[in-house]
Parts: sequence; C-alpha cells; structure tokens
Amino acid sequence: MKVGVVPGSFDPVTLGHLDIIERGSKLVEKLVVGVLSNSAKGPMFSVAQRVELLEKATSHLDNVVVIPFEGLLVDFLKEQQAQAVIRGLRAVTDFEYELQLAQANRSLYPDMETVFLTTNVQYSYISSTIVKDVLKYGGDISHFVPAAVIDMIYHFRR
Ligand code: PNS
Repeated sequence: MKVGVVPGSFDPVTLGHLDIIERGSKLVEKLVVGVLSNSAKGPMFSVAQRVELLEKATSHLDNVVVIPFEGLLVDFLKEQQAQAVIRGLRAVTDFEYELQLAQANRSLYPDMETVFLTTNVQYSYISSTIVKDVLKYGGDISHFVPAAVIDMIYHFRR
C-alpha cells in the first residue's frame, strides 16, 4: 500500500494546508497527517487541539488519518510504513528550507521520497503565523482557515 505523510506543526491548520492534504490524498492509498508535538516554535494550540482541528477539517477525506509525532520525521515515516513525504511550496522563498529538509531526510532514510505540490495561488499568502497574528489582534480569520474549524479555533482561544 502506498502511504504518504504530510508533516507539519499545523498551529493551526490553514486553507493552504487543507488544499495540500486534499490533493495529496489523491496520490496515495493512505495519507497520514503527522502533527509535530515537540515543536520548538512554542505553539499557540496544544497538540491535542491541533489534532482535533485537523480531524474536523479532514473528516470528508476517507483515506486520511491524523497522528501526532515527536522526534525525527524519518522515524515517524518508518513507523507508519510510509514511502513519501508530501509538502506544499507556496513561493520560491519556501524552496531553500524545503530542499534542505528533503535532502537531510533522504540522507537519514534513502528509501524515502519527498513530493512537492505547488500551493494554489489563492492560498499562497496564507500561513499559520498570519492566522495567529490576526487572532491575537481580534481580526477575522475566515479567509484563512477551513470553515469547519473556525468556531473550534475561537473556542480554544477562550
Ligand atoms: O509546518 P512546519 O513547521 O513547516 O513543519 C516542519 C516539519 C514538522 C516538517 C519539520 O520541522 C520536521 O520534520 N520536524 C521533525 C524533526 C526532523 O525530522 N527534522 C528534520 C531532519 S534534520
């Protein structure tokens, strides 16, 4: 079975993430969304909240599961018996970091591949950082996150 992993911090999930997950789910038999739990970034949402948001946002996708992980991505890949990592590229500024990540991962685990999907242009400016900023200052996040999780995000912030 072809298994792919879409890894990330997802703090919180955005429309851009969901676009990559939806399109990635068509390329493999099973898609695992891996939520990094030991993020050095100091997340706004707990790992349990980030998983819950993702589960709600992806509930229409039959072959998608959401699983938290810590440690190395390559170890998570082996655990999930996955062959490929799927990542979104928003702009050329993403490329340098993504290339480094892909090459480091492949030197740790030569049997894996990284597949890049280009983000839909309408989502190319969206990031979790922007969502968190807008949230902090009381702005409207409805253009940035999946409709299904807007209420849950506001609830978690209360
Ligand atoms: O959404 P993000 O924060 O851009 O995702 C980054 C992520 C989770 C893909 C990356 O930080 C990661 O894979 N972390 C796990 C540790 C690891 O394997 N690092 C790279 C090997 S050197």
